[in-house]
Amino acid sequence: MMTCEYFGICGSCTLYEKNYQKQLDFKVSKIKEDFNLDTVDIHTSAPSHFRNRAEFKIYHDDGKITYAMSRLDKKGVVRITSCSIVSQSIAAIMIPLLEALQANPILEFKLFAIEFLSSSTGELLVTLIYHKKIDEAWREEAKKLSTQFGIMIIGRSRKIKLVIENDFIHDTIMIENKPYHYKLYDTGFIQPNVKVNEKMIGWVKNKIIQTESDLLELYCGHGNFTIPLAEKFNKVLATEISKNSIKAAKENCILNHTDNITFVRLSSEELTSALKKERIFRRLEGIELEDFNFSHVFVDPPRAGLDEKSLAFIVEFDTIIYVSCNPETLKRDLEVLKKQFDLKAFAVFDQFAYTHHLECGVVLKKRKEIS
Ligand SMILES: C[S@@+](CC[C@H](N)C(=O)[O-])C[C@H]1O[C@@H](n2cnc3c(N)ncnc32)[C@H](O)[C@@H]1O
Repeated sequence: MMTCEYFGICGSCTLYEKNYQKQLDFKVSKIKEDFNLDTVDIHTSAPSHFRNRAEFKIYHDDGKITYAMSRLDKKGVVRITSCSIVSQSIAAIMIPLLEALQANPILEFKLFAIEFLSSSTGELLVTLIYHKKIDEAWREEAKKLSTQFGIMIIGRSRKIKLVIENDFIHDTIMIENKPYHYKLYDTGFIQPNVKVNEKMIGWVKNKIIQTESDLLELYCGHGNFTIPLAEKFNKVLATEISKNSIKAAKENCILNHTDNITFVRLSSEELTSALKKERIFRRLEGIELEDFNFSHVFVDPPRAGLDEKSLAFIVEFDTIIYVSCNPETLKRDLEVLKKQFDLKAFAVFDQFAYTHHLECGVVLKKRKEIS
């Protein structure tokens, strides 16, 4: 059983009273009740050290720095020396890195927060965030720290970003025994639980029968789902609002030798307008939307779920695959979709263990009209 001395104090884990399995059982039964389901496919997380991304505040007290998290009771912060949910490589470096920062006045002064991003290939990107202007003197010291620990470092302060080595790391994930390679940048969305991410992509891929038709994806991020799913389709049009994520997605396509995806930076609202021919976008120049023969739409929206226009638009597809990090907005959107679609599969993925959050995946098929 995973234990943490900060359970009940640190605000990061909110379902700490139960062991791993019990907290999952609790969340699954709530989902079944809320969605009126008899069965769901359940995908577990590792019980500890599952987060490849973490952010800690830095607490300064009498010249000494410690990591800190917001308290569960919301009354200030709790100082911590370890975290049981971050990946082994983040857990291992936390204290030695803090000691090195403590010993270096240029790196320590006005350090406000530290973000970690680890990869399964062993690379680590550490972002040091300051409440002071960082400069060339900072860069020199950060370079030494980067060499000492073999890590990439980014320094951030207001309007300044200094990069030591790279502002990305390489990650490799395994889907059905096949490796997929990604560049993960410090900016842009990244699924926080690598093993659960692999399970989500595997589940979605497995639900799609190989087809000669095309896929439309909204909210594609850096191509996390897009690249493995593209193998099931003739062509893919994938869209996303973030410029940085689209840049990463295009690079990730090259890394994986994938050549049947077109990535375009468009919000879901803009894409809907473009496909309905309501607006013309320069970003779509050279792309013939008419050439796509879409059968499936895949959406993985932020917590707000689908906007009204996109929701009304996706009912035109035969198959909808919807991955959601917020059961409340998923439920709201399903109320609309279920008028024309049958629910074919429902899965839960314990992406955020020890919290009340549960990621869900659904497959919907258009109901055949009886004439
Ligand atoms: C939950 S993340 C999923 C990303 C990707 N599917 C993945 O697995 O990494 C949601 C993504 O939607 C993007 N996004 C947010 N609002 C959007 C909008 N209105 N239109 C298109 N993309 C949006 C975010 O930048 C983010 O990359």
